[in-house]
Amino acid sequence: MPRLTRASALLGLITMTTAALAHQNVQNPAVQARMDNMTAMARQMEVIGTMARGETAFDAEAANDALAQISSEANRIVDLFEAPETDPQSEARAGIWENFGNFSNRAMELELLAMELAGTVEDRSTLVQALRRVGASCSGCHEDYRINRD
Ligand code: HEC
Repeated sequence: MPRLTRASALLGLITMTTAALAHQNVQNPAVQARMDNMTAMARQMEVIGTMARGETAFDAEAANDALAQISSEANRIVDLFEAPETDPQSEARAGIWENFGNFSNRAMELELLAMELAGTVEDRSTLVQALRRVGASCSGCHEDYRINRD
């Protein structure tokens, strides 16, 4: 498989999985709020992912806008996760609150990365590159701090 196609397929898988795992009927509104924040970012990743796979027409402005929106959602992560709220549906690991400094750094890294990449998408190759880098940032935090890994 050509390198670009393989990368798109991989990232397509990441975004589809995250969207499919979004939760409903959560009892704790604070947990629901942080899940909604994550789901909002997953939706923006889908905008970029479907474009990278050629399922939607390439649109640099829409892709750059999606990256900017991921950055502003990422800016809310620290506040939304700060209190150690729980819910039977939550996939948050206790490690978040044992290492909140590190968790916060991961959130800030995503915010800055997405901000830096917003405006750089001008063709399919820069689009796939942005998708890969942001996807790695999402997955890196999930590996350490989320129970259902992706
Ligand atoms: C700083 C760490 C961190 C980063 C960065 C991060 N996530 Fe998450 N994500 C989590 C944690 C923790 C949960 C589990 C929250 C819970 O269930 O209480 C989660 C849950 C989710 C969920 C499930 C939401 C639900 O309804 O259960 C989706 C979808 C998701 N993340 C997508 C993303 C995407 C897309 C990105 C990158 C653009 C991203 N996340 C970046 C930590 C992170």
